[in-house]
This record gives sequence, structure tokens and C-alpha cells, in this order.
Amino acid sequence: MFKALIIDKAQDGSITQSIEQIAENRLPEGDVLVDVAFSTLNYKDGLCLTGGGGLVRTYPHVPGVDFAGVVAESSDARFAAGDPVVLTGWRVGEAHWGGYAQRARVKADWLVPLPKGLTLRQSMAVGTAGFTAMLAIMDLEAHGLKPGDGPVLVTGAAGGVGSVATAILARLGHEVVAVTGRPETEGYLRDLGAARIVPRADLAE
Ligand SMILES: NC(=O)c1ccc[n+]([C@@H]2O[C@H](COP(=O)([O-])OP(=O)(O)OC[C@H]3O[C@@H](n4cnc5c(N)ncnc54)[C@H](OP(=O)(O)O)[C@@H]3O)[C@@H](O)[C@H]2O)c1
Repeated sequence: MFKALIIDKAQDGSITQSIEQIAENRLPEGDVLVDVAFSTLNYKDGLCLTGGGGLVRTYPHVPGVDFAGVVAESSDARFAAGDPVVLTGWRVGEAHWGGYAQRARVKADWLVPLPKGLTLRQSMAVGTAGFTAMLAIMDLEAHGLKPGDGPVLVTGAAGGVGSVATAILARLGHEVVAVTGRPETEGYLRDLGAARIVPRADLAE
């Protein structure tokens, strides 16, 4: 038995959330069983937890779009018990039970080994949102962006993806112009390294 955050749909259509003891045979099929150590709180998790966006089709459901943990059992040659692993994406936490549980069973194809130099906790501090920000920056670099080329505009700068993008771009030496609809986040954005703050309304003009 292990603990999981279960969301369910009541007869009146309302969504309930509760932490329950779950038997292992209730986990969905998969070839790797993982002892989950950390997961993040992503925007999509908020939607799943409250029944928004129609992301969850089958109840009861375990949300959590990502997780980091240690392999408990594996029938796939790529992973063995004791391996530290990370999962992001693949509609885990939406179409498949996710990381808000002490254990998860998933396809081996969805897992990657924990990158060297990162702890499980650090990998989830980056999380799916931070990973998305990095992928976007790598794409900009692939298109030739270099520090010194000029200001880089980050929209939704105080959000999950935007704040990590702001921090990484600034650390790489770019002049970051952060667009936000929340003036109260100016100090936060400057701490992340934004050189200039542009109110969202100004950008829309
Ligand atoms: N999070 C992920 O893992 C992930 C993965 C793939 C793709 N994405 C996509 O990346 C985008 C950002 O996701 P997120 O997780 O960072 O969401 P988030 O934390 O909710 O941040 C979104 C930000 O967008 C800004 N915003 C809100 N309403 C807006 C409006 N009407 N016009 C312009 N900007 C507005 C806000 O920025 P301010 O607070 O600065 O005003 C808000 O914080 C979304 O399009 C999402 O689908 C996210």
C-alpha cells in the first residue's frame, strides 16, 4: 500500500480531492515501477486538481505531470532497481496516473535517467516549466541568438516558464526585457536578472 492524491468526480459533477491508501495493483500498466520522491505544481496540475480544461478523462485519477524518483522494479532492460529517474510530459498526470503519489508505474520510454550533477529535488525544482523554458532558449540559440545580439523579450515573465526563461537568459548574458501584467512582480523579475520591465498593456499598444 502507498499514499496517493486521488481526484474523483462526484455524481453532481463536482471534483473531489483526497489522499488515500492505494494498493499497488491499482496502478496502471507499465514496465517500470518508481518510488516517487518529488513532483512539481504545474499550471496543468492546477487544472487537473480542479477539473478544469477537460484534461482528465477518466476518474478516479492521480494528477502530477512530472516526477523524480528511484526505480523500484523494472521489466525493461534500460532501467534497474535503484536507478534515479525523471519523467516530464507524455500526458502523465492527465491521461495516465502521475506523480502525486508515493509510487508510479509508467512506460520505460517515458523515463530518462537523472542527469549527472542534479539531485532528484533539484530536477523537480527545474520541473516541466523550467525544462520548457530551456528547450525554448536552446531553440533560440539554434537559430543563432547570442549574448550581445540585442534585448530578448520574455512574455508572461512572472509565470512558471517565463520566470525560468528570464533567469537563464540573464545568466547567459542576454539583456532581458520582461513583459508582465503584474506590476508587483517587478522586484522578483529584477532579482531574476531582468534589465527592463514592460507592462503588458504597453506591449499590446
Ligand atoms: N509550464 C509548462 O510546463 C509548459 C510546458 C509547455 C508549454 N507551456 C506553455 O507555456 C505558456 C506559459 O505557461 P506557464 O506554465 O508558465 O503558465 P503560468 O505560470 O500561468 O504563466 C503564464 C503567464 O502568462 C501571463 N499572462 C496571463 N494572462 C495573460 C494574457 N491575457 N496576455 C498575456 N500574458 C498573460 C502571466 O504573466 P505575468 O504574471 O508576468 O503577467 C502569467 O504569469 C503557456 O502557453 C503554456 O501552455 C507550459
